[in-house]
Amino acid sequence: MTDPYSDRGNKDRSITREAPAHLGDPVPPGGTASPVEGTTPFLIGRAMTGGYGSGADILHDCTIAVEPGEIAVIVGPNGAGKSTAMKAVFGMLNLRQGEVLLDGEDITGLSPQARVLKGMGFVPQTANIFTSLTVEENLEMGAFVRRDDFSGTMEQVYSLFPILREKRLQPAGELSGGQRQQVAVGRALMTEPKVLMLDEPTAGVSPIVMDELFDRIIEVSRTGIPILMVEQNARQALEIADKGYVLVQGSNAYTGTGRELLADPEVRKSFLGG
Ligand SMILES: Nc1ncnc2c1ncn2[C@@H]1O[C@H](COP(=O)(O)OP(=O)(O)OP(=O)(O)O)[C@@H](O)[C@H]1O
Ligand SMILES: [Mg+2]
Repeated sequence: MTDPYSDRGNKDRSITREAPAHLGDPVPPGGTASPVEGTTPFLIGRAMTGGYGSGADILHDCTIAVEPGEIAVIVGPNGAGKSTAMKAVFGMLNLRQGEVLLDGEDITGLSPQARVLKGMGFVPQTANIFTSLTVEENLEMGAFVRRDDFSGTMEQVYSLFPILREKRLQPAGELSGGQRQQVAVGRALMTEPKVLMLDEPTAGVSPIVMDELFDRIIEVSRTGIPILMVEQNARQALEIADKGYVLVQGSNAYTGTGRELLADPEVRKSFLGG
């Protein structure tokens, strides 16, 4: 059987950023280097434990990460804590334990706004566009942190999503679900992020529109922006994923390459409908 997805996924290693400097233990004076345990991922929420306000913990020792050049996908049942994990990485949760590192820097204590300035783009699951503003105004809002001329970036967003150029003067609330998601992703791209986090970018769209959105997301990743995304279309998302995380009750249940998770009988049975 041929693999219909053999051309999918993000396998273009030429776009991969330079690997970050190894952040392992320093070499002791006069000693030999300790064994290399691998490099720190470009973005990682590591061993995160915490919940909302003073409420019970939702995340329990939960780790999600994305490497340069990768698409990492988080799947799991409703209420598993996928959005909570994304919000924690974006700084919307007070973690009781764990840390968030971006490009080797500990950003655990930073506000979401400060993280945007550091290069994080986040598209939340809900309320991710301004419905009463036009498409173009939404994109301009996305560029709010920029002091420079962002017209070139807007041009790039319109090239990626041509329908948005056509509809640029329409209120975003008048657009279809798939087009609204394009606005949301485009808005996040306006800050020229170093990493893009998407929470259910294909929610509520038809299979054809979902496929188109995935293609655009692959295209974004090929421009050198690593992507960490939550998806309820687990099977399709894992097909384009370099790395996958299955979260259950706020914990990591399974982690592997997209291919490994798709082939795992337990994952298939419990999370992919057999
Ligand atoms: N703002 C909030 N305040 C308090 N509890 C919350 C809040 N948001 C979510 N929760 C709780 O956290 C848990 C995990 O929810 P979360 O939204 O992270 O799950 P999810 O995996 O994203 O689910 P879905 O697939 O439905 O999007 C749930 O028990 C939910 O009720
Ligand atoms: Mg969610």
